[in-house]
Amino acid sequence: MNKQETNQKERFKEKRFDYNIVLIGFMGAGKSAVSERLSTVYAMKNVEMDQVIAEREGMSILNIFAAHGEEYFRDLETELLAEMQSHKNTVISCGGGAVLRERNIREMKRNGRVVLLTASPETVYERVKDSDDRPVLNGRKNVKGIKELMEQRRGRYEVAADIVINTDNKTVMQVCEELVHRLMEMEEE
Ligand code: S3P
Repeated sequence: MNKQETNQKERFKEKRFDYNIVLIGFMGAGKSAVSERLSTVYAMKNVEMDQVIAEREGMSILNIFAAHGEEYFRDLETELLAEMQSHKNTVISCGGGAVLRERNIREMKRNGRVVLLTASPETVYERVKDSDDRPVLNGRKNVKGIKELMEQRRGRYEVAADIVINTDNKTVMQVCEELVHRLMEMEEE
């Protein structure tokens, strides 16, 4: 942890979340980076959904899509989200498509605050352009293709979100601080 993170941890030393923080948003919106940092600074558990699913299945997300298809993968997401409801003080980083099912949104909200991270199609493109492990971007890994899919999904993300944070031109730590402040505001309401 660097000095800034240590100071932040010190400021919120007593802070405990008696709910889960559920991060949603398009691929490349920064969910994994924010979730990792949040869990370090606030001593929360971190569940990276894609990673857990890949470990359980013993294959990469790309291979799960290729071997079993998207629906099979979506069922695994639903199962894992339902399972997470017995946890608290956990940051859950969801795959970008987890909001596509109504039931998943219900599971997220059961004992979680849902935080939508957004980024422009240009930012997303910069963040995903060098990786080949996102099957839904096959054939559309360019700003236009990303923008179209983002527009298609926008309604799903917005309906699920309790809080929306734009990540363009912000550091991971700035996003974490904004997120915690917004959560605390919500608690005071
Ligand atoms: C997906 C996003 C990916 C992963 C899978 C499908 C999607 O997660 O779950 O490739 O449909 O948007 P990230 O958002 O972490 O890249």
